[in-house]
Amino acid sequence: MCGIVGYLGTQRAAPLLLEGLGRLEHRGYDSAGVAVLAGTGIRVAKRAGRVRDLADGLPRRFAGKVGIGHTRWATHGPANDVNAHPHTDAKGLVAVVHNGIIDNAAALRDELADTGVDLASDTDTEVLAHLVAASEAETLEAKVAEALGRVEGTYGVAVLHVDFPDRLVVARNGSPLIIGVGDKEMHVASDLAALVRYTTTVAHLDDGEMATLTPTGFTTYRIGAGGIAATDRRAAPVDIDPEAYDAGEHASYMHKEIAEQPAAAERVLRGRLDERFGTSHLGGLNLDARELRAIRRVKILGCGSAYYVGQMGAMLVEELARVPADAEAASEFRYRNPIIEPDTLYVAVSQSGETVDTLLAVQEIRRKGGRVIGLVNVVGSAIAREVDGGIYLHAGPEVAVASTKALTNMFLGFAMLALQLGRVRDLSIADGRRLIAGLEALPRQIEEVLAGEERLEALARKLADAPSLFFVGRVRGFPVAREGAQKFKEISYRHAEAYQTSELKHGPLALISPDVPTVAIVPGDELVERNVGALHEIAARGGPLVVVTHEDVAMRGLECDRVVVPRSERELDPILLTVPLQLLAYHAALHLGHDIDKPRNLAKSVTVE
Ligand code: AGP
Repeated sequence: MCGIVGYLGTQRAAPLLLEGLGRLEHRGYDSAGVAVLAGTGIRVAKRAGRVRDLADGLPRRFAGKVGIGHTRWATHGPANDVNAHPHTDAKGLVAVVHNGIIDNAAALRDELADTGVDLASDTDTEVLAHLVAASEAETLEAKVAEALGRVEGTYGVAVLHVDFPDRLVVARNGSPLIIGVGDKEMHVASDLAALVRYTTTVAHLDDGEMATLTPTGFTTYRIGAGGIAATDRRAAPVDIDPEAYDAGEHASYMHKEIAEQPAAAERVLRGRLDERFGTSHLGGLNLDARELRAIRRVKILGCGSAYYVGQMGAMLVEELARVPADAEAASEFRYRNPIIEPDTLYVAVSQSGETVDTLLAVQEIRRKGGRVIGLVNVVGSAIAREVDGGIYLHAGPEVAVASTKALTNMFLGFAMLALQLGRVRDLSIADGRRLIAGLEALPRQIEEVLAGEERLEALARKLADAPSLFFVGRVRGFPVAREGAQKFKEISYRHAEAYQTSELKHGPLALISPDVPTVAIVPGDELVERNVGALHEIAARGGPLVVVTHEDVAMRGLECDRVVVPRSERELDPILLTVPLQLLAYHAALHLGHDIDKPRNLAKSVTVE
């Protein structure tokens, strides 16, 4: 949450900062601001609203070749001009942008107030500007380290100081910061997305590290109890196509990312399926066959959509490996003092690799001696670095807040994990090969689902006008329904509730009426008869129905709109049933005129508890 950029070099900083902020807006978009060193002072422009509002209102002469910028997701105080970053001290000598949470901000604010400091904003960040300004240390690095030494919590910070006009000092603890090395210029950002247009030579800071940037290079330090000590971090090229960060011909990133799923699915499967032995090869797990056999339970942890796909993953593990498995919301896990078992494999699943609830769950498990692997999309992210091994998802950058292609690749990652766990147990080679054939067919089958977009658009228009709707499914179909409801409410702002189809008659059937449509997940599996029966009960009460199903499923005269998806192997059906729900949500939100990529109140990476 929150995006940070910084620049020093030979060009005017403001346009570069604004461009970078535009590329980070998915991290938070309720306010934005920039600060530049101009002559002997710092100029700040900040306001509530989007980066384009900030750019429109920027004074024409906002010169300066050193600057920092920020796009905010409010945690302390409402989204208004004053609370927007950068924050300065009373004399305007220091400007700070910050991503993270300062847990002891209230105490520090009181302390500063007692010394006569007038705090202008409600934010936790402002205290940092005052603490840096108050420090009597000689160097900017020492001032920043002293201020950070007073802070409990998480941060990625960038600091400007009028007395040190040749440099920017940045530091990281729990919130990402990446330094980009250009030609006689340096960049810093909280996400590669803001750097790749300028440079692909980058250095990722570690937690507890800070760096000084000058136009010609950077130096890194570790912040310790006794002050700062130099570290030897070097920049290295990353293999990334800058165009992967553009929406291209698509009207939104979400639409682009939905369309990219066949290619992304091929990437995550590539080189990992072994037809000969009917298994998968996941070298990154760092577990040999004996260790895999010794696993007695699998526990999957993730948040939001990652949690729902974790439920799909748990079912895959139970079905293919016959190992007990379940998924739990990572945000809850840590707070019930979980029992960590030595023969349980813990799996953290996260697109961003930054979600703090998931990260803290991983740390709790490791602290208690448990073994955790990660299913993570962003290479080198905090969760990827914290786990004992894992599977990178290779979905490419996902910018839209609503997760689509990363989620599909999470499912495929779980399928390969379950296959490998199964094949060191009792899953036959024939079943292994059957699943491999199923996995290999999925990219093409996803394309087939996407080809039905026009029809899904028409159905979405009907659903968009309903104030409230149900998504229902059973067993394999239930996490699909949960994900469908999540996607729908996230971007359409309609109330969408997921239920097990079997549970409707135990309560929620009372809500069914002609105004409350139901989207039902009905694969042609062993439960099909019961599912179709339950849909008749909905229809009998006047509830409109959209049924996501297979071609050969007989609806027995049911009045409904059918969305047909290709059949896969039954264990793999959930992902093909999920894809049309992405397009339903997308077109409903588009019809309602919402900002698809930046839905209200949300942000792409949730780095606060
Ligand atoms: C998905 O559409 C949501 N934006 C959200 O639920 C997301 O999946 C969740 O916050 C977890 O994010 P992560 O995968 O980056 O950990």
